[in-house]
Amino acid sequence: MKKIELLRSVALFWDLKETELGYIADKMVTRLYENGNYIFMEDSDGEQCFFVLEGSVKVTRLSKDGREVILAMLNEGDFFGEMSLLDGESRSANVIALEKTQVLTLDREDFLIVLHNYPQIAIQLLKEMAGRIRKSDRQITSLSLSDAEKRIALCIIRFADEQGKIKNGQVSIPKIPIQQDIANMAGTSRETVSRALSILEKENFIEREGKELIILDYKSFIKEFDS
Ligand code: CMP
Repeated sequence: MKKIELLRSVALFWDLKETELGYIADKMVTRLYENGNYIFMEDSDGEQCFFVLEGSVKVTRLSKDGREVILAMLNEGDFFGEMSLLDGESRSANVIALEKTQVLTLDREDFLIVLHNYPQIAIQLLKEMAGRIRKSDRQITSLSLSDAEKRIALCIIRFADEQGKIKNGQVSIPKIPIQQDIANMAGTSRETVSRALSILEKENFIEREGKELIILDYKSFIKEFDS
């Protein structure tokens, strides 16, 4: 597929005209990563911004005692690597591919020119960054809860927000992360995640099939775990 077609899947560029998309696409490079590849490491120099065309990544940091803490998972249409380009500091986190992942990259200078020349993109970027702060604020509040099962349920609500499809009051999450990654996001162990998911299933809150997780009655799930 041509780069310009690929760019259409990135939410940040949805408002742009064909010629404008073409101008930006010309400056971008396509890259492919395998599951588990580091796209970049925390504290390295920021050279490019990345746009996810296919696949997903996790944004992580290491805690003082060496545990992986997952700050976010980003999917098709999302971007990352913008922070260090904007503030000139080093990378704030590691970014690791969670599956085969295709991205487009834009060099720092071109990224800053694009933001300058297309204010609508700068505004979209700010909106997205505001959304990320909101999610992080929720995660910080959630991590202070002593109830690990509730923290896990709140992670499921976040995945539903980010990639869920609603139908008849049910929300289907097509690609639920592996249990160790949910644990690293909820600040608990893989065993606790496994136990909590089984309990949620037994109590008819969720159903699982392969990578898919379905919240059977989204309203009551929210009422039970997020109020
Ligand atoms: P940068 O600091 O250049 O490199 C790491 C990237 O991870 C960062 O830019 C953001 O794109 C992304 N990132 C960091 N923290 C978060 C977060 N809390 N939620 C989503 N993405 C983040």
